[in-house]
Amino acid sequence: MAAPDSASLLARSLKAANRFPQRVALVACGAMAWPALVMAWQVVTRTLGPNPLEQVIRTPGKWALVLLLVVLALTPLRQLMVLAARRLGWRWGRRLADWNWLIRLRRHVGLASFFYAFVHVMLYGTLDLGWDWDEFVEDASNKPFVLAGVAAIVLLTPLAITSTDAWMRRLKRNWKRVHWLVYPAAVFAVLHFIWMSKLGVHRPYVYGAVLLVLLLYRLVMRRKPEAAGRDALGEEAPERPAAAS
Ligand code: HEM
Repeated sequence: MAAPDSASLLARSLKAANRFPQRVALVACGAMAWPALVMAWQVVTRTLGPNPLEQVIRTPGKWALVLLLVVLALTPLRQLMVLAARRLGWRWGRRLADWNWLIRLRRHVGLASFFYAFVHVMLYGTLDLGWDWDEFVEDASNKPFVLAGVAAIVLLTPLAITSTDAWMRRLKRNWKRVHWLVYPAAVFAVLHFIWMSKLGVHRPYVYGAVLLVLLLYRLVMRRKPEAAGRDALGEEAPERPAAAS
């Protein structure tokens, strides 16, 4: 029997991903837990570098933002994969439903982002402020980036709370409206990063550029669905299995 070529191996793995979304979620959760485990290891072994306090506060903040951008990228990625599959003549992957597993990851990635944001804020409150409210008020009034961070976490909190199936059922159509808050939350998170960074540091602008591309893509899709091939792609498949919606 001839050995399967790499393209058919890839198609087979992607098909399996769609059939076993829980396993995909498990692998993704393991990958998303990795930065926390690495940081915990660095704390235990005292290998956090020359400025451990700064490092320990910043690392979860960075991962919260990275994962927030991943959440926003999953829907466009799914649509682009369908277009790529059609253009390149792949036998599999031409329907949105083939990539449903990507969409099912959204909730896990969103919750992981919130987890890192929460840890980030808790570490800031504990290590930087010692839970001194007056110091927080002083920080917030002198540093606009702190206010932007507060706005981001305030907007992300209802999203995390209402991410369960029960809340989805309870809120019905309003669930989508509530979850639209992810966009202003991401904007505030990027502003938070830009405003806290020193002049000449480029990394926050890279995040900003990624967010801008994702927001523009959304805008184009809303205004002119055919521009992004959405007509050809048809209606979006439900985010969750029918039983959960
Ligand atoms: C109450 C809300 C928040 C407060 C008070 C806060 C505070 C801080 C502080 C003090 C720093 C380090 C600044 C420095 O070292 O000079 C920081 C960095 C950072 N924060 Fe926040 N933050 C908040 C929420 C958030 C949220 C919700 C996100 C993302 C979703 C976020 C993402 C970041 C990022 C990306 C960095 C820079 C990390 C790096 O340098 O790699 N923060 N934040």
